[in-house]
Amino acid sequence: MTGFDSSTPNAVPPVHGVDGAVAPSAGVSTTYVTSADALPAGSAWDPGTEHGYDGELAAVLIPAEKLQAKITELARAVAADHTYDTPPLLICVLKGAVMFVTDFARALPIPSELEFMAVSSYGSATSSSGVVRILKDLDRDITGRRVIIVEDIIDSGLTLSWLLKNLATRGPAAIDIVALLRKPEAVKVEVDVRYVGFDIPTDFVVGYGLDYNERYRDLPFVGLLGEHMYR
Ligand code: PRP
Repeated sequence: MTGFDSSTPNAVPPVHGVDGAVAPSAGVSTTYVTSADALPAGSAWDPGTEHGYDGELAAVLIPAEKLQAKITELARAVAADHTYDTPPLLICVLKGAVMFVTDFARALPIPSELEFMAVSSYGSATSSSGVVRILKDLDRDITGRRVIIVEDIIDSGLTLSWLLKNLATRGPAAIDIVALLRKPEAVKVEVDVRYVGFDIPTDFVVGYGLDYNERYRDLPFVGLLGEHMYR
């Protein structure tokens, strides 16, 4: 059995900052992906070739079809939990979540509205410190709205932890988080996340919004970067 088959329901934490307004959904099944699930590049097949990244990727970790199927599942769960009169406000944290939020919004069977934030976390190129600066703030007031932070990946959890605290001070009715990917072994700060698509290993992943030096965001799948590209 591969990791794509081994799903378990998420615990459903309470919605942040709300007074019991939203009944918990049945939850979303987070799919556990291991390195053994990766489809390795070989002499006969290179997943980067048709995207101009010939010889740069070691494997496909999550194929495009698996991503899209999971996004549909996440979107249905979010819609099932939506009991508010106004549409959920999707907050995309630039840049990595751009691909995810556009597919997620289109998969939602209810209307939604979009907002963007850009933040910069101080730290090294590969790990954040938890000290975050806002580069681009929201364009509007979120008072009384159900806010859904749409994140591509939770690594240490430091960015999300900071963002949750920051947004909570602005008076939303609720804040939920939808994360496509999470690296459980890298998490330094536990954040209650209601909807998580895939738990993945700590390997160097790129694609579907995730970059290395701004490259590879345009890939339609999540892949493993060849070690020779960053070592
Ligand atoms: C990535 C990702 C998350 C954050 C997660 O963004 O999009 O926002 O890191 O890391 P953490 O859990 O360790 O805080 P990044 O800062 O690389 O910027 P980008 O989205 O523009 O690539």
